[in-house]
Amino acid sequence: MKRRIGILTSGGDCPGLNACIRGVARASYELFDAEIVGIADGYRGLIEGDYTVMKPEDFHGILTLGGTILGTSRRPYRYMRVIEDDNVDKVENMKKNYKKMGLDCLVTLGGNGTHKTANLLSEEGLNVIGLPKTIDNDIWATDVTFGFHTAVDIGTDVVDRIHTTANSHGRVMVIEIMGNKAGWLSLYCGLGGGADVILLPEIPYDPDKVNKAILDRAEKQKRKFSIVVVAEGAFSQEEAKMKRKERLAKRAEMKYPSVSYMVAEQIQQATGFETRVCNPGHYLRGGSPSAYDRVLATIFGTYAAHLIKDENYGQTVAMIGGKVGHNPLSEVAGKTKFVDPESDLVKSARDIGVSFGD
Ligand code: F6P
Repeated sequence: MKRRIGILTSGGDCPGLNACIRGVARASYELFDAEIVGIADGYRGLIEGDYTVMKPEDFHGILTLGGTILGTSRRPYRYMRVIEDDNVDKVENMKKNYKKMGLDCLVTLGGNGTHKTANLLSEEGLNVIGLPKTIDNDIWATDVTFGFHTAVDIGTDVVDRIHTTANSHGRVMVIEIMGNKAGWLSLYCGLGGGADVILLPEIPYDPDKVNKAILDRAEKQKRKFSIVVVAEGAFSQEEAKMKRKERLAKRAEMKYPSVSYMVAEQIQQATGFETRVCNPGHYLRGGSPSAYDRVLATIFGTYAAHLIKDENYGQTVAMIGGKVGHNPLSEVAGKTKFVDPESDLVKSARDIGVSFGD
């Protein structure tokens, strides 16, 4: 049974993408008579017909390689059915190129936006399999996404290292961690790194409560420094009263490059502590995947090959209760897995005295 499989990686890159590609490809070569087509730069390559027929040797030596050998891009789902200035019908082009490439199946590695377009293509009649990639860990109905644990390792190392300089100078250090909708990465890096305050999009904060936590720590615990981890999507209780668009517009008018600078200025003004900002940004997405993510990406990729062998399309691979499985794309697309403020993870952090600014 011959199968010609197109693979694309879309959205923000992360360590583990190449490990997953390798898992899909090498399992497919083992399980059936496979031919792999590498589609360049995510959905751009499918829209424009930019692809390469891959050779088995293309998948050697990439397990530990960061980034994606296929390239990626962002093609926001909300514009997929919009004819823009280039007058291109993106959906029709993708369907036409899927056929032109002679594909039996399209495998998409991506986050929430990627899954929405994958589901759109599935509803348009293409055979599609999704794989859950993002450092944000915010894809619905999977315990974990690949890329997340490597980013947790990187972000926790940042928090660890910032501790020593905060202590030396008696400063408050505000560390901004990626995650514009969900705060999973900030929660794990904050907990793992021993942050004193963790601000998440799911728990709008009160600046006065943040300042009190820092002053109490100085007074009662005689600790002359504090570590504040802030998710890039965190916002105050005042801002929570606004719609997301309104909030983003107000932020855009402000002088701060991102939320952590606003939080830092508020802390310094209210507490008198010297306060500095560290924003690792895309560093959290760089380099080689952790061993955990290499294993996770491999088992996700090989599972996708079995779905293809069984012609079980319209699915996205997931870790469900610790077991690799799959969910219908239609049930995952468009949903975000948020941190539950009542979760054991948040409760455990509160139990050891972490403030969430609420
Ligand atoms: O989705 C992953 C992510 O790293 C988010 O955490 C972050 O907000 C976004 O991508 C950054 O996007 P870009 O790489 O396009 O700047």
